[in-house]
Amino acid sequence: MHTSRSSGFDVLVVGGGIIGLVTAWRAAQRGLRTAVADPEPGGGAARVAAGMLAAVTELQYGEQTLLDLNLASARRYPDFAAELTDATGLDLGYRACGTLAVALDADDRAHLRDLHAFQISLGLSSEWLSGRDCRRLEPLLAPGVRGGLRVDGDHQVDPRRLATALLRAAELAGVTLLRSAAARIETAGGRAAGALLDDGTAVHADRTVLAAGSLSGRTPGVPEEVLPPIRPVKGQILRLRIPPGHAPFLSRTVRAVVRGSHVYLVPRENGELVLGATSEEFGWDTTVTAGGVYELLRDAHELVPGITELPLTETLAGLRPASPDNAPLLGRTALDGLLLATGHHRNGVLLTPVTGDIMGELLSTGELPGYALPFTAERFAHVPARQEQTA
Ligand code: GLY
Repeated sequence: MHTSRSSGFDVLVVGGGIIGLVTAWRAAQRGLRTAVADPEPGGGAARVAAGMLAAVTELQYGEQTLLDLNLASARRYPDFAAELTDATGLDLGYRACGTLAVALDADDRAHLRDLHAFQISLGLSSEWLSGRDCRRLEPLLAPGVRGGLRVDGDHQVDPRRLATALLRAAELAGVTLLRSAAARIETAGGRAAGALLDDGTAVHADRTVLAAGSLSGRTPGVPEEVLPPIRPVKGQILRLRIPPGHAPFLSRTVRAVVRGSHVYLVPRENGELVLGATSEEFGWDTTVTAGGVYELLRDAHELVPGITELPLTETLAGLRPASPDNAPLLGRTALDGLLLATGHHRNGVLLTPVTGDIMGELLSTGELPGYALPFTAERFAHVPARQEQTA
């Protein structure tokens, strides 16, 4: 392979999805010479994601530490969106619309009641509504809705616009875009020293940040014991379109757990209605299946029967990068010079602002902010990466 040499950088970010781009943008803003390696920067899981900022409605038992990070990022969103828009002139579709999580049967209702009690015990803002009150808020909900949770603080952003704006902001801040994938991480003198790219370019960097989403756990050149234990969790998602002139369909995100599966409808101001998402642990497959589409439409139809009249404009599948405890991996690794910003699983869009701040501070000062300490790779020091991927 012909090898050319790119001039040295302070920071090389491997992966140009929203997490890699926000890391690169914040690093460049702090005066660091920064490059991103990705054949299609601005792509990745954010092209598929719905963009719910659902810290409270997606709360899970045992994930209180992650909740604090999610809430910290949700609080940053308005300023973050304004800063990105100021920097680029691009609108992110950030919408402070709130979320309604509803129950369709007695089991769902009991589950939501438990979730509500848990939310209240943690001091979160969430209001229990009767089925009638849910329908008063969202008249197109099915008549059988048995009650729900009104969470006015869980908003949404358009992840595709977010990715486009981050790419633009990174370029404007001086980030070099290397449009090739990292073939392998290079080491020299016992530390990470950059990467060799697929196009033959050798990129030298003082620090290398692995932000390659679900691929982060299989990056060649990273010693086995340093590879992050990331596995892909497939999500299939649909996009519908509300025709111009049609009456407003939903005024906020509406979601439910139907037969144990999450279903949500995210209405955008531009008329797009995003319907998601499956959660499947079948490795690296991103096929859209008839069964996935059927189940999403079936469950969403139970929630909002009128959706079947809408044009279906897109079906897509992506891979969430999941860690063993569903929280991200941020900060240093056991290999000097190699850092992680990966493993954001269901919360990549939500965690983008706080990840940028954490990585920007770490890269510019050498210190990880105290609130990020629970998210270092050290917590998985005993987990073999490859075994986790196939479990
Ligand atoms: N946070 C939504 C999802 O992962 O499907």
